[in-house]
Amino acid sequence: MPAGRTTLSEYLSQQSAQHQSLHPDLGKLVLEIAKAVQEIALLTSQGALAGVLGSLESQNVQGETQKKLDVLSDEILIQTFRSGNLVAGIASEENDEPLSNPKGGSFLCLFDPLDGSSNIDVNVSVGTIFSMLPATPNTTLTASDYLQVGRKQIAAGYAIYGPATMLVFSLGHGTHGFTFDAASGEFILTHHDIQVPADTSEFAINASNERFWEPPVSLYISECKQGKTSVRGRDFNMRWIASMVADVHRILMRGGVFMYPKDTKDPSKPGRLRLMYEANPMSFVVEQAGGLGSTGRQRILDVQPESIHQRIPVILGSKNEVERIENYHRDHDRA
Ligand code: F6P
Repeated sequence: MPAGRTTLSEYLSQQSAQHQSLHPDLGKLVLEIAKAVQEIALLTSQGALAGVLGSLESQNVQGETQKKLDVLSDEILIQTFRSGNLVAGIASEENDEPLSNPKGGSFLCLFDPLDGSSNIDVNVSVGTIFSMLPATPNTTLTASDYLQVGRKQIAAGYAIYGPATMLVFSLGHGTHGFTFDAASGEFILTHHDIQVPADTSEFAINASNERFWEPPVSLYISECKQGKTSVRGRDFNMRWIASMVADVHRILMRGGVFMYPKDTKDPSKPGRLRLMYEANPMSFVVEQAGGLGSTGRQRILDVQPESIHQRIPVILGSKNEVERIENYHRDHDRA
């Protein structure tokens, strides 16, 4: 290993020495996640060669058709956590009910094993999102143990399976990115203390939903599109990968605002994305990098969850833009 390269395990030891308040097992937990991520990355990179593309006949609790790789990634994570004694309870996008680990543990892990899975078959970046919450020791877990507000997360982050495999997470002391080095089999610290620029000229939204948006969102996007000729006085660029991990990763790297806002497309759903294993962990890493995560009306990390698979509107990224969109919601609601 060339000198000056910090591996994930070295970084985790340094963090626990520097921050006495970190749970003593947190480093081991992150290494467990990294191990599962390596397995998922291998399957993802092999694609058709591993026979993992395509859909299954089954649907998940959200009524979405499951991809083979969704289910395989889910199994890898569950197997990893259940073979150890760190994670007492597991909740995943792919399972209706949380699963307990008979060996117990100090953490609850909620995850989306393969986010953006509509991209799998077309070889576009996908990812794994995870959120860690404290578990009450020696209790029989019930669903309500998981319903903790996002600001209580002990750690959160994602892996992105793109041109490079990266692990990006926060233990509550900044957001840091590690790139997988296949030659050494190690994650190497490549993005120390990521900072999301407060201002941006880039937005990400599925514009095909425009007719279903609320007025504050329509106003914001129309001003961005009018660019120099609007009150914004500058031109904006748009990007939409349809993989939250990839869109949020871009925002962490160079700024931007990501939106899957409240809409009227399906009135039974208050948003598209899931609070506990998409919005909360992504808001945590974005806020730890100086950005903001909001529903438009409330900070996401302050939302009290009511159910594990709850959906929520999501607006996150560059601080000044998210605040502007919140102001548009406030003005609209007042009027
Ligand atoms: O899990 C939800 C997700 O796949 C996100 O990763 C992504 O941002 C979004 O859905 C894409 O939604 P749409 O299909 O409407 O573009």
